[in-house]
Amino acid sequence: MSMASVHIVGVGGYLPERVMTNAELEQMVDTTDQWITERTGIKERHIIAEDQMTSDLAVEAAKLALADAGIGIDDIDALMVTTTTPDLIFPATATVVQAKLGGKDFPAWDIQAVCSGFVYGLAQVEGMMRAGMYKRVLLIGAEAMSRIVDWTDRGTCILFGDGAGAVVLEAGEPDVENGLIGSVLHADGSYRDLLKAEHPHQPSSPEMHHQTVDFSLDSAGTAAVEMKGNEVFRVAVNKLGSVVTEVLDKYEVNDSDIDMLVPHQANIRIIQATARKLKMDMDRVALTVEKHGNTSSASVPLALHDLYQSGRLEKGQLILLEAFAGGFAWGANLLRWSK
Ligand code: COA
Repeated sequence: MSMASVHIVGVGGYLPERVMTNAELEQMVDTTDQWITERTGIKERHIIAEDQMTSDLAVEAAKLALADAGIGIDDIDALMVTTTTPDLIFPATATVVQAKLGGKDFPAWDIQAVCSGFVYGLAQVEGMMRAGMYKRVLLIGAEAMSRIVDWTDRGTCILFGDGAGAVVLEAGEPDVENGLIGSVLHADGSYRDLLKAEHPHQPSSPEMHHQTVDFSLDSAGTAAVEMKGNEVFRVAVNKLGSVVTEVLDKYEVNDSDIDMLVPHQANIRIIQATARKLKMDMDRVALTVEKHGNTSSASVPLALHDLYQSGRLEKGQLILLEAFAGGFAWGANLLRWSK
């Protein structure tokens, strides 16, 4: 049996209305617009409204992706949400999104690979669709990072933003030239303490297993992003450099064949390092970090959406997606744009 091809046929993105500028952050923590701009490239980020949940961001992005694909929710046969900030511990945010979109019956589940969620999700969906499991899949990266950031920690709170990006994937006739080409994924859990958010209802260290866990409501909402920024930075540049080389070697393409790079948007300096490694000019790199900050697993589909909307994507272009995340978990996807 020859394997189906897999194509992106719809793209959508949604950012909550409220914009938080660096000037506002200057009022909150000991920082400056100049420091944030020079060290990260971030100027502003969007922040979820008090009455919105991650699923609401996902729904808005999904509606746009479905409309772009010219189909409705009833045409979808599986829904995956990648998120670090689920509405609930359970059920999966994907089931909430399914209900809010009026979908029925088809499977809906979340995956968690932090900022690499979308890259991981795309690889997983591609495999399932190639094998013939589903014809049309809705894949959404949706995050409300502002809800788990420590707003008194200048080392992390300046970095993150909220939003959602979605794609509709469709299986087609076997075609090795067009659509998704393949992916490379990695993880190394020995780095997990460098970038993490502890669980509000789990003991944070083995010693705590002997203590009474506080399940009161007061104990909730204390989980916050903790990061050793400069160590993460160093490993991120290194691993991203090797994963982009690896995916090109695996699928036998040269760096000069890549038309567009769609990187995870954590820090402009990390993105520049990867572009340099690929000998790519920055005008062939999708850039949203200045306006969105780091939206975790929403960042890659939001950057793809931004690129798509700008009219710079053309049929036949070779596109490289990449991301690096807590865990650490990192990866890259290669695709030939076929829309
Ligand atoms: N404003 C002003 N000063 C700040 C600051 C802020 N918002 N945040 C940190 N600083 C200070 C530090 O306290 C430190 O001061 P010191 O030298 O007096 O101790 C100094 O700036 C340098 O800190 P350092 O962490 O070494 O800076 P950096 O150049 O590594 O930049 C990050 C910090 C967070 C921007 C950078 O490390 C980074 O982007 N890391 C990777 C983040 C990432 O990608 N995370 C997600 C992966 S998915």
